[in-house]
Amino acid sequence: MRTLLAEVLATLDATVLAARNAAVASDILEREDVTVVLTDLRMPHADGLRVLRYAKQRSALTEVVLLTGHGTVESAVEALKSGAYDYLRKPFEPDDLRRTIERALQYAQLNRENHELRESHRTHGEDDGLIGKSPAIDSARELVKAFAGYDCAVLVTGESGTGKEIVSRMIHANSRRRDKAFVAINCAAIPDNLIESELFGYQAGAFTGAGRSKPGLFEVADGGTLCLDEINNAPASLQAKLLRVLQDGSFFRMGSTEPRRADVRLLAATNRPLPELVSSGQFRMDLYYRLKVLEIHLPPLRERRGDIPVLASYFLAKHATRLAKAARGFSTRALTALVRHDWPGNGRELENVVQRMLILSPGEILDVDSVPSELLEEKEVRVHNLEHASPQSLEEVEAHFIAKTLREHHGNRAATADVLGIDKSTLWRKIKRHKLE
Ligand SMILES: Nc1ncnc2c1ncn2[C@@H]1O[C@H](COP(=O)(O)OP(=O)(O)OP(=O)(O)O)[C@@H](O)[C@H]1O
Ligand SMILES: [Mg+2]
Repeated sequence: MRTLLAEVLATLDATVLAARNAAVASDILEREDVTVVLTDLRMPHADGLRVLRYAKQRSALTEVVLLTGHGTVESAVEALKSGAYDYLRKPFEPDDLRRTIERALQYAQLNRENHELRESHRTHGEDDGLIGKSPAIDSARELVKAFAGYDCAVLVTGESGTGKEIVSRMIHANSRRRDKAFVAINCAAIPDNLIESELFGYQAGAFTGAGRSKPGLFEVADGGTLCLDEINNAPASLQAKLLRVLQDGSFFRMGSTEPRRADVRLLAATNRPLPELVSSGQFRMDLYYRLKVLEIHLPPLRERRGDIPVLASYFLAKHATRLAKAARGFSTRALTALVRHDWPGNGRELENVVQRMLILSPGEILDVDSVPSELLEEKEVRVHNLEHASPQSLEEVEAHFIAKTLREHHGNRAATADVLGIDKSTLWRKIKRHKLE
């Protein structure tokens, strides 16, 4: 039977190794990288389920097909439950066998490719890190390497969507803390009265509802890295406490007088220039100076337009597979439109636009007809706006542009945020700041 099966399978595009019993099979599994195992269920000494378990234990990527006799439906079910790819009921035709094994081989192959992709993503850090060939991005990459090894705080600055979170994760991934936690918290997304208990934890009875003590993120991130996103939104009392942690590494849980220590590396990100907030009294100068010792700045995309084609191609490759699209590149006209756009939402907005283009285009080349019309009409829009309202500053241009987009979407904030390529929380803050309610 074994010889016969080997002959049938030899017609497939695979190498067949035959084993006389479970012990020989284990030896082979030990030595070789086996893609698919075909084993009888009932055998003397060790049965097929043992072989199955052993094979899966050696490598989860090995698939197992079991041969079952009459009246062993239960074992077949059990086999599938314990991870067999499939089973064949005896008697079977050579073609059944070939088809089943062929499917198992294909499945295993796919699984392996996926696994390799994931592995290479893992070893290359978050996605592929910071993409771009401009001097600004080169220098950001170098600073990440230079700063990662030190345990000091790093300030990452740049407009929304410029890749501040990517940089923060790269710093963590390149530091000695890489195997410990990376915890990120967005200071703008948490109400002021909750953010301190979130970060520092609280003692039972610290406030109504605090029934049990709870550790904060500083304790959760112990040994690792804590990233405070949009630190520009940190309320004054939090700023004071952060300064203290930075200076001597100690803090208190809310409602507790017992100082605690946390071995945490602090990273901070801001999408608004801190010096402005310092001069308007919204941000502590001492905290700012403490943070800015190691600073990485990511300039907006419109100041490094050379990165636009590089990023666009990267996003295309990243999403084409996921969306099962055949697209391989952009037409010159489409690329020109992308390069001309000012990208207020930077990389995030570009990524969204490329995804939309992919979804709208069936072909191999993404053409200008899939470029969102706002992007093509933009130049006129700007001129129009400037003529009618003549804004004085960049802030006013932003306010006008947001107001216009909101109006076009009948006040729908989700849609507006999407078009502008910014977070809903970012839009919400901008609406508040510009008093556009
Ligand atoms: N240089 C870049 N390389 C690769 N991806 C980028 C780059 N710039 C932006 N992106 C993409 O844009 C998105 C936003 O990046 P990220 O979250 O790091 O921005 P951010 O600066 O933290 O923005 P925000 O201030 O809104 O939080 C990510 O999905 C990322 O894939
Ligand atoms: Mg961010």
